[in-house]
Amino acid sequence: MKLEMNGISKAFGQNAVLKSVSFHLNEGEICALLGENGAGKSTLMNILGGVIQADRGDILLGGVKHAFTTPAQSLSAGIAFIHQELNLINDLTVYENMFIGRELKKKNGFLDHKAMIRETQKVFDQIGMDIDPRAMVRELDASFKQIVEISRALMMKARFIIMDEPTTSLTDPEIQRVFEMLRTLKAQKVGIVFISHKLREVMEICDRYTVLRDGVMVAQGAVQDVTTADLARHMVGHEVVSGHREVSDNLGQEVLRLKNMSCAPYFDGVSLSVKAGEVLGITGLLGDGRSELFAAVFGSLEGASGSVYLDGKAVKIRSTLQAVKLGIGYVPRNRKENGIIKDMDILDNGSIVTWDMLGRKGLLNHKKQRADFEKQKQALRIKLDDVRNGITSLSGGNQQKVVLAKWLTRNPKLLILDNPTQGVDVGAKEEIYEIILRLAREGVALVVLSSEAQEVIRVCDRALVMYHGKVVDEVRGERMNEHEIMRLATGG
Ligand SMILES: Nc1ncnc2c1ncn2[C@@H]1O[C@H](COP(=O)(O)OP(=O)(O)OP(=O)(O)O)[C@@H](O)[C@H]1O
Ligand SMILES: [Mg+2]
Repeated sequence: MKLEMNGISKAFGQNAVLKSVSFHLNEGEICALLGENGAGKSTLMNILGGVIQADRGDILLGGVKHAFTTPAQSLSAGIAFIHQELNLINDLTVYENMFIGRELKKKNGFLDHKAMIRETQKVFDQIGMDIDPRAMVRELDASFKQIVEISRALMMKARFIIMDEPTTSLTDPEIQRVFEMLRTLKAQKVGIVFISHKLREVMEICDRYTVLRDGVMVAQGAVQDVTTADLARHMVGHEVVSGHREVSDNLGQEVLRLKNMSCAPYFDGVSLSVKAGEVLGITGLLGDGRSELFAAVFGSLEGASGSVYLDGKAVKIRSTLQAVKLGIGYVPRNRKENGIIKDMDILDNGSIVTWDMLGRKGLLNHKKQRADFEKQKQALRIKLDDVRNGITSLSGGNQQKVVLAKWLTRNPKLLILDNPTQGVDVGAKEEIYEIILRLAREGVALVVLSSEAQEVIRVCDRALVMYHGKVVDEVRGERMNEHEIMRLATGG
């Protein structure tokens, strides 16, 4: 069966987001949907998934026209949309999640747990995944949660699965697990739309690609006929040159020093220091503890022992507000959970640094707030209609830029960036790298937490590799290469 979208157009107010876009997907095929931040990828898939409606255009399944006005309609036609913020309930078991709203019951009206466990097991067997149906969802890592959600879609007979940036917050082994599952699905004739900014993943897992630029379909073809450079060029409309790092030789005074920091079960005996003008990378795999370590430094994780020195003075940071006042900036790992405040508009998200400071909102100088944000909006090339629109009306990558913008306005002396380019397109990634390097030249001390070795190599002067909460080694110069980083990250 073939899925087709023909001449799809959609505008939000004056903003024409999709302009007569056509897209198709065959069964047993993985098709990448690519494009810069704000190109219209999620919007196109939201239309297919029945989340929103197109202004014009047709959706055809096996040649038959369909109109989806709700996600349920789209699902019953065999199309499942796996959103990045997964729809699972942590406090229930896997099998209970699989049957939410469709629980199997015995004749006497009681829930038939045995049958639900059996049916769940059947789906896992079908896709060759070793998950205990009775496990609590909260105990699963992010990749298994995604797999459970896909399994639920399969149980409801989904023939087409849409995945919108499924790997953004996954680590390498988790990504491989999801890919393994995608290959199995493909062999079973399921068609998959794969949205991602990670072009190397696209080369690895996808058969075909379709590129949107400013709401227009500009290129499509077989992945085997192109390189990542070709794809990047289609996306941005010109050649993307990746700069390279020149190691700074005029570092300033030490800004941050950590001595013997521990917090079970996350990290254990970590010591490090960062100087003004330096970019320190911290990398490793899932569970290496780096995110928790710097959450503790920023005052958002309690219970750590050890010492923190700022500008040579011992400090005890007990709250994020205190950290901000001391001149620390922090971009968290998971934007959707910690980086943005969904109910606030773009301007407030891009200028108000912590909840604690909201109390002072009455004193905000609105003119200055707007002017400051406008400056960052241009520097970061944030694509938006009106700063008073809700933050969630922005595309994912542009939301990430807004999170960065507020810190740039505050001029921190230490900036901690966890997963800084999450959901950001290839062109904008380079822009963010340039901003990191510019801040370093201006004397800011930077810590970049990332699981992407390429990213670390691109922007960092040196990097610490963590493994199970401990720093295994430091790499710099020649030794800062993908091979060495991977070797250390897996325990050396
Ligand atoms: N509900 C909405 N209201 C107003 N504008 C919207 C809404 N949803 C999306 N847009 C706008 O539509 C455009 C396309 O957004 P979309 O989310 O489809 O981009 P995307 O290609 O998925 O980008 P990203 O890679 O950053 O996720 C953006 O300019 C966005 O601001
Ligand atoms: Mg999107």
